[in-house]
Amino acid sequence: MPDRVRVCLVGGGRVAKVHANSVTRHIAAATASAVVEPVQEVRDAVGDQYGIAARFETFEAALDWGEFDAVLITTPTFTHKTLAVLSAEAGKHVFLEKPMAITLEECDAIIAAAERHGVLLQLGFMRRFDPEFVAAYERIQAGEIGRPMLIKSLTHGPGLPPPWARDLAKSNGMLAEVNSHDWDCVRWLMGSNPQRVYAEIANFKGPAHHINTPHFYDNAIVNIRFESGGLGSISGVCPCEYGYDARVEIVGERGLMQIGDIRGQAVIIAANRDKGYITPIYRTWPERFAWGYIREMEHFVGCIRSGTAPRADGLAGRWALAGVLAATRSFLEERPVLLSEVLDSVPPAQT
Ligand SMILES: NC(=O)c1ccc[n+]([C@@H]2O[C@H](COP(=O)([O-])OP(=O)(O)OC[C@H]3O[C@@H](n4cnc5c(N)ncnc54)[C@H](O)[C@@H]3O)[C@@H](O)[C@H]2O)c1
Repeated sequence: MPDRVRVCLVGGGRVAKVHANSVTRHIAAATASAVVEPVQEVRDAVGDQYGIAARFETFEAALDWGEFDAVLITTPTFTHKTLAVLSAEAGKHVFLEKPMAITLEECDAIIAAAERHGVLLQLGFMRRFDPEFVAAYERIQAGEIGRPMLIKSLTHGPGLPPPWARDLAKSNGMLAEVNSHDWDCVRWLMGSNPQRVYAEIANFKGPAHHINTPHFYDNAIVNIRFESGGLGSISGVCPCEYGYDARVEIVGERGLMQIGDIRGQAVIIAANRDKGYITPIYRTWPERFAWGYIREMEHFVGCIRSGTAPRADGLAGRWALAGVLAATRSFLEERPVLLSEVLDSVPPAQT
């Protein structure tokens, strides 16, 4: 292993820039060696902004060059399985953005390839590294609110997702694209797998945005029963227009815990009688989870250097997708759906 872990950015879109920023500005033990991006202007813009000399149109060309230890896969979801398996086969450690893949079979192929070729696989669940979420998890583990009984997790995103992410066939829709983090966190914080889900969706803004893809929705709410007997809900709105909003409430047998705040700064302005209180809110996900993105990348690089297993692993990605698939089946068939209906075999609880 060289002094610094050399990473290759695969994809140069929205989240790639967040990770490029972490690697080039915050993590001394890593360096951004290459970028792969089919769109030349995007490729050059990312290369120029982050000082990356090696630029490739295809991943195959980057693999032929080969001067890197790990990949950061930030491409659209429907490309994840092919790219992740190719990376593992080439002996490159894999950081893979959520949602892990389109199907559970694809997740299994990625997990198997990583195991077979002895490379690390970490999923882009940055909330597991966000200081507030981590503190909440540790305090639940320490028993401060007793056994978790009920969890409510919401994510509202400000703007329209990229065109591919509006198509269920290419992304599994908003419950995957926006709410994957909620799916992972409810399981992590409750310490239990989801057992049954019931989902309702609505489409308020699609027509105004001329979105005609089948089953497009911009609002969703899912009720969940966990294997532990606990209950939960996940809700999503995207686009919500007003900012980025991610909050969780957990009721335990001995207390209540709330994670997150819509307020982005500790400033409240009492303006006048008409306007009342004004407070700045989080506007974007890179802003809300700035530390989570840096710490998840530090963790990935640290795991590579020490040979330890990442905290957000392939099994976590597989479970998050299983929840999405069960909830999607639920709203399509207008009935509660057992997780066992989408899982061939139920893996062990909690990673
Ligand atoms: N963890 C998070 O908070 C977070 C936030 C946003 C997006 N994401 C996830 O990251 C992924 C990308 O999302 P995005 O919003 O950045 O998308 P995006 O559309 O902004 O960017 C994707 C980029 O990948 C490029 N691309 C497509 N196929 C490629 C290939 N085969 N090889 C290399 N590049 C390719 C596209 O040209 C595009 O520039 C999705 O899985 C999404 O769910 C995660």
